[in-house]
Amino acid sequence: MTGKRINWEPGYELGIEDIDFQHHFFLNLINRLADELRMTTSQNRRSALIAELNAYARFHFISEENMMARAGYPDLEAHRKHHLDLISQLNSREALLQLEQSEQSAEQVIDFLVSWFVNHTTGEDRLFADFYHRQQNR
Ligand SMILES: [Fe+2]
Ligand SMILES: [Fe+2]
Repeated sequence: MTGKRINWEPGYELGIEDIDFQHHFFLNLINRLADELRMTTSQNRRSALIAELNAYARFHFISEENMMARAGYPDLEAHRKHHLDLISQLNSREALLQLEQSEQSAEQVIDFLVSWFVNHTTGEDRLFADFYHRQQNR
């Protein structure tokens, strides 16, 4: 069974090349791993798939935070908390997945990641992009 895919929307584009590239990669990674996650009940496989998502999310967050620091973004600390929150929720959902071993909970992890990606990218990340562009145009 192949599940639904999330498509890139023009509204996700922030106009900052490095960030947009990483967001594209992250979305593709979610799509690619989601099907594998749905199809396996092996705890080790599930852990390995979530570890890949987790590692890329961490990389992306550090990269974004460094860019914010460089730009002197005043809301960096608040933004960093959003990132930390995602990682800790991902960790606890992984733990749940290990306990339940049900297809439904894999689906919940995927739904959570997708809605987090969309909300954060069009919300907090967009706020930084607006700041960044204002600064460039000064
Ligand atoms: Fe981001
Ligand atoms: Fe972010």
